[in-house]
Amino acid sequence: MINWFDKSKCLKECNFKTNKKFELIEDLSILPSNNLIIEGDNIDGLKLLLKEYSNKIRFIYIDPPYNTLKERIYNDSFVDGYHEFRNKFKEKYNRYPDKNEVNQRKHYKYLSFIYPRLFVSRELLSDNGIIFISINENELFNLKLLCDEIFNENNFIGLFSWRCSTGGIPPKFIQKNYEYVLCYAKNINKSEHFRDYVRQTALKEYNKKDDVDIYKLKRLAFRTNKIRKNAQFPIKCPDGEIVIPPEDYIYRCIEPTFLKWLEEDKIVFKRTNTSPLKTIDGKQAKWNIYAKIRLTEAILKPINVIPEEFVNTYFTSYTENTKIYGDKIIFFRTKPTSLMKYLMYISNVKENDIILDYFAGSLSTVQAVVEYSLDTDINLNFIMIQSNEKLDSNSFSYKKGYRCMMEIALRRLHYIKENIYPELNYKYYKIM
Ligand SMILES: C[S@@+](CC[C@H](N)C(=O)[O-])C[C@H]1O[C@@H](n2cnc3c(N)ncnc32)[C@H](O)[C@@H]1O
Repeated sequence: MINWFDKSKCLKECNFKTNKKFELIEDLSILPSNNLIIEGDNIDGLKLLLKEYSNKIRFIYIDPPYNTLKERIYNDSFVDGYHEFRNKFKEKYNRYPDKNEVNQRKHYKYLSFIYPRLFVSRELLSDNGIIFISINENELFNLKLLCDEIFNENNFIGLFSWRCSTGGIPPKFIQKNYEYVLCYAKNINKSEHFRDYVRQTALKEYNKKDDVDIYKLKRLAFRTNKIRKNAQFPIKCPDGEIVIPPEDYIYRCIEPTFLKWLEEDKIVFKRTNTSPLKTIDGKQAKWNIYAKIRLTEAILKPINVIPEEFVNTYFTSYTENTKIYGDKIIFFRTKPTSLMKYLMYISNVKENDIILDYFAGSLSTVQAVVEYSLDTDINLNFIMIQSNEKLDSNSFSYKKGYRCMMEIALRRLHYIKENIYPELNYKYYKIM
């Protein structure tokens, strides 16, 4: 259980109703559409969505501010000033904070900001819903504990590392080239199994081919201390020799499965003088037996490092942004669309699933949804929430003529409509 200054106040806020409402600004939906662009504070947006979308969202991806305290075009510092914090603390505890408590102030405001949003997200997720949260080491550890509390530790699916950059100015200690993606299920028992694309490394392994498919060979017998008697049975080899596994070996299947594999041409006998198998009278067998593992039948699971061959570094998004905005740093470090597409693939999103991103930034997730739908022919719907933060007048984006976040977001939306999918339809609401 994670605790922080102001947690009790924050918990109360989770259940406050909002008195705001959605106001329709633009309706570009030809057919009834679940595609929504919502402008405003996401805590209001999420609470307003509850009415219609409770238990309906299959996939949430968020890329919240990381609280780096560095200057960004949007606010990335959730921290009170020194004196402001000391006074608040004194008011609550009737004493001034010690040095450690003062240092910790850079986390509490962030936690109070993110907690109610995640809390409402949980209610929006369908029973088989999944949430992915991008984060870096700044708040990863707090966020993990926070999510354990909201989603329940049992529903923690895993933590992905993503190689987001390849170099940089040499630091004093460690080159930090990874960011992370936390993943939770609403209910791990009701979630779909994850899957993965075929990786290059797998293709190297599956180096044999027959009329059916490419495959790799695996020895049928292996050594183990978990002996199962039904996986130790005699097998007749091509020259009539009967072989069985030695005492500490079993086959990777039981006899009926072996017979089925034999019929399906999935068994290969090889003559060898190094076989672990024995003949009936205990001598070393002349044969070893292998099973064909076909690529199409292999169960490919993602590993917790996102493969670079599918999701490259921020470099990819610089290229995407140059196409959209004419410059990569109009909105520096937007997420590459391949990241969200990869997460949608592994979590097996299906026809008409709703994808929600409520820190939508430049709407890179919309582009990912549209491209994924086009690539797979699976219709997906999106709901995006983004505040209309004013841009810092010293920022490069401001100098290039952008005044607020929504202008950056809408620029991408128009780019998608003009260049990727002219039929894109959506409703655009403002929270008032
Ligand atoms: C890290 S950026 C997301 C970037 C996005 N993934 C992309 O690729 O463009 C976080 C975004 O969340 C927005 N944001 C921060 N607080 C918000 C809030 N309370 N409601 C809605 N949007 C918010 C910021 O304006 C910023 O654009």
